[in-house]
Amino acid sequence: MADQLTATGQTPGAGEGRIDLHDVSMRFGRGADRVQAVDGVSLHVAPGEFVSLIGPSGCGKSTLLNVVAGFARASEGTVTLDGQPITGPGSDRGVVFQQYSLFPWMTVRRNVEFGLKMQGIAAARREATARTLLGLAGLLAFENHYPDQLSGGMKQRVGIVRALATSPRVLLMDEPFGALDAQTRVVMQQILTNMWQRLRLSVLFITHDIEEAIFLSDRVYVMTARPGRIKAEVEIPLPRPRTPDMMASVGFTQVLHKLRNLIREESLAAMGDELHDGGLEGFAMDAGGHPLRELV
Ligand SMILES: Nc1ncnc2c1ncn2[C@@H]1O[C@H](COP(=O)(O)OP(=O)(O)O)[C@@H](O)[C@H]1O
Ligand SMILES: [Mg+2]
Repeated sequence: MADQLTATGQTPGAGEGRIDLHDVSMRFGRGADRVQAVDGVSLHVAPGEFVSLIGPSGCGKSTLLNVVAGFARASEGTVTLDGQPITGPGSDRGVVFQQYSLFPWMTVRRNVEFGLKMQGIAAARREATARTLLGLAGLLAFENHYPDQLSGGMKQRVGIVRALATSPRVLLMDEPFGALDAQTRVVMQQILTNMWQRLRLSVLFITHDIEEAIFLSDRVYVMTARPGRIKAEVEIPLPRPRTPDMMASVGFTQVLHKLRNLIREESLAAMGDELHDGGLEGFAMDAGGHPLRELV
């Protein structure tokens, strides 16, 4: 398609960038300290698909993303990228976290070029790739600035561009806009969806912002409170490319209500658990003794 390009100016390989998790469980600690963080999660991201994972705090979202990134190994189950088991980190997966991780002593462009330099890519090609992606993110005018000279939103855009520079097959994002104010978030969502529209790579995106998940995604998985399981999988019935006016559409509002109800149940269940853990069992019950989650 004419509107697709990768950092190297090529059409992305059809059918590349499929993530599959099958029956993944994750436990931490031993004995009495043992925590079952994730229990039997199966999910997938198809090539070129934008998929979000939402769920209450502590349900294992970051744990799952770290397993796909190769930073952690699943206790049970299989995790593959294009059918190959994931055994550690690799440049085929770009990762963006909430906290910015730019090198403060390097300019914006040098930060973006860093991964390419590590791969031994020649200077002229590094520069061309970095400038193409910085242009897509609206940052070309800042290529010679240092991170300290940028706003939070700009730093995070550089982080995304840097993760894309090595032409990964998938982009993994863990609450990337969580530290930004509401107005900046909305602008970042628009920039990200525009970049995705051009690059069409597979994205696994974690957020606790339901509207953000709907606006950006093709599909959303909702997780239960800990131990995290997949509670629901919801298709987002909005056309592409996404535009801000869609947030007022009937389709958007309907799916928002559906996801809000699913999340509310789980957040209450999570809070009930915390209260139980603290020995305040009565707080998790209503006057009739029904568990709090049944009040929703
Ligand atoms: N390295 C670890 N050691 C022990 N417990 C952990 C570790 N990482 C995560 N956990 C626990 O696993 C659960 C899920 O954590 P996490 O994946 O960070 O949740 P989320 O990102 O959904 O908020 C939490 O109860 C957390 O305390
Ligand atoms: Mg997390």
